[in-house]
Amino acid sequence: MLERQMILKWLNKSLSFSALILLGLTATLLISIPAISQPGDTTLRNLAQEQNIYIGAAVSIKALRNDPNYREVLTREFNMVTPENVMKFKPIHPERDRYDFTAANEIVTFAKANQMQIRGHTLVWHRSLPDWLTETEWTREELIEILRRHIFTVVSHYRGEIYAWDVINEAVGGKDSLRKTIWQQVIGSDYVELAFRWAHEADPNALLFYNDYGGEGLGEKSDAIYAFVKDLLEKDVPIHGVGLQMHKSIKNPPKPEDVATNIKRLEELGLEVHITEMDVQIHNGTGTEEDRLVKQAKVYQDMLGVCLKAPNCTAFVTWGFTDKFTWIPGFVGQPDLPLIFDKSYRPKPAYHTLIEVLSTANN
Ligand code: G3I
Repeated sequence: MLERQMILKWLNKSLSFSALILLGLTATLLISIPAISQPGDTTLRNLAQEQNIYIGAAVSIKALRNDPNYREVLTREFNMVTPENVMKFKPIHPERDRYDFTAANEIVTFAKANQMQIRGHTLVWHRSLPDWLTETEWTREELIEILRRHIFTVVSHYRGEIYAWDVINEAVGGKDSLRKTIWQQVIGSDYVELAFRWAHEADPNALLFYNDYGGEGLGEKSDAIYAFVKDLLEKDVPIHGVGLQMHKSIKNPPKPEDVATNIKRLEELGLEVHITEMDVQIHNGTGTEEDRLVKQAKVYQDMLGVCLKAPNCTAFVTWGFTDKFTWIPGFVGQPDLPLIFDKSYRPKPAYHTLIEVLSTANN
């Protein structure tokens, strides 16, 4: 899956238009990135399919259940979804001997019914943990068994249905150090490779990712993530890619050349890259709201442009898609408009720049 999709992306860029059509038809058969919107419609989904990348959004279960406009735009514009919260440890494993797949199943069923790929998020993180797990002093052996059972139960439940798992989320603390989480402190640093090996055994066909924020371009965190995944590969750990979360702002936009260099060095390790959680805050920028939305559109444009040029960047996922449902205002403590559709599902400048980037990618 990894090589074929990267090859198809590369061929996309170097073939004549007619050959491209032929390849596109073949590619559709081979990697079956389907388009639910009508063929020929100018949508992110249709244009992304032509470029052999996935374009996705994190899904709020509340919005999916209650808002028909949400469902309509989601299926029209995207061919990949990430459950925003309902596959995390706490909601899916609320008691030691009880799992609750109800909400996650709804998203998986919806995605399959609309020919959308699914990113599983996330198996091992230091947040969204249930009280039964955090309020007990476990031995190393006990916690290893708890984590092993969690991963096997959840990954096996969705075996064959999840395109890629965020196996480990936000574990890198800094240069040569892991974040001091319950997993790291009780099990030790080998919890990382154990988790990847268990996930691979539970579903050998799922792509397995390390996902993190703040390491998208170049710098200390980016170098630490690079060293972290390089070490895993040297131990023959089954890791297939790195998720760059891309939670950004117009105040400190990412440098396209740095992100491109980082993605390139991950490609040289043989790793795929997904942009996994992009949103762009504008509350802390300068200018009128209109000016700030234009700056926001440039950040989205730059990052999708970098991804399209990189053969190993195969998915571009935003963390939600409408300003009506976003985590950012709660996080920053004030209103913000970080996504590509407004609260009434009208396309914003960022949507139009993404369409433009996808439409002109082969020029
Ligand atoms: O579902 C409960 C609800 O029953 C309860 O009444 C309510 C009030 O306590 O809480 C609800 O759970 C909340 C959950 O979102 C669902 O809305 C949690 O408190 C809240 O902490 C949780 O926040 C999520 C956060 O991760 C922590 O899991 C955000 O929505 C989500 O956008 C955010 O996403 C993370 C990625 O998973 C990893 N990368 C960073 C990103 C932003 O933090």
